Amino acid sequence: MLVTSVGKLRLEKPGMVASGIMDETGPSMVRMLKCGAGAVVTKSIGSEPNPGHPNPTFTELKCGYINAMGLPNPGIELFGAEMEIAAKSGNIIGSIYGASPEEFSRLAGKMEEYGAAAVELNLSCPHAAGYGMELGTDPAVVGSIVSAVKSSVSIPVWAKLTPNTHILKDLAIAVRDAGGDAVVAINTVKAMAISPQLGKPILSNKFGGLSGPAIRSIGVRAVFEIRAATDIPIVGVGGISDWKDAAQYIMAGACAFQVGSAIGTKGIDVFSAINTELERFMKDYGYGSISKMIGVAHE
Ligand code: DHB
Repeated sequence: MLVTSVGKLRLEKPGMVASGIMDETGPSMVRMLKCGAGAVVTKSIGSEPNPGHPNPTFTELKCGYINAMGLPNPGIELFGAEMEIAAKSGNIIGSIYGASPEEFSRLAGKMEEYGAAAVELNLSCPHAAGYGMELGTDPAVVGSIVSAVKSSVSIPVWAKLTPNTHILKDLAIAVRDAGGDAVVAINTVKAMAISPQLGKPILSNKFGGLSGPAIRSIGVRAVFEIRAATDIPIVGVGGISDWKDAAQYIMAGACAFQVGSAIGTKGIDVFSAINTELERFMKDYGYGSISKMIGVAHE
């Protein structure tokens, strides 16, 4: 009943682990696949090992988290060992970040070689100079990156978009026109927290990305707007922690969803709880499949 597809990629379960949590080692990814996630998106991986920003990189708010880890990762060469462990257990979506179409293409080629089921292009990290949303808010740049990656790999290419823009639908159309297989919406919202006692920003990077319940309604609105503008498959993400949140994203137009912060607040059983309760809701309300629920809020 919960089977869905993101373009050509079939998922037994509609919920995936969002990039950035429980997804930097092979064993943690295998663990998440075993507890009800239909796929795991890796932490964003770049060309070289990157230690990330100095602490503090993370702060908890009443309504979510703000983080600026600084894209820490072991680099694409070393990450092969983790992919080798994880990719034989299920769908691993390789998240990558780069500064140019060529760099994205090379990283995507490596992820394909490592057995990734799809690649997710991080065009939306809200605070990395030369990366993420600095590239991902210009439709021409987004189009050139997606089309370069499409011509280098045969696995599906997903583009993760930023909500920190007023031209979200143009970005989604650029992804579709460049041949992209799906958009993932949304990444974190650029944010900041200040310590009154210190009189300074809490994070070493000053700015970070806000995630969790605070951004859910922004994400649902973003998915709804993208669905109204184009027919590209959408993966919804942002503040999902229970079946009602997941159902909102699906009804706005998402064919699958991702959960990030709620793994931190609720633990790894969040996927099995969403699966059980979403299925119960679907039975009670006469939705025979996920596909019957996708985009119903537009009708
Ligand atoms: C980081 C990357 C992101 O894409 C994001 O949304 C938030 C933080 C990071 O590694 O700093």
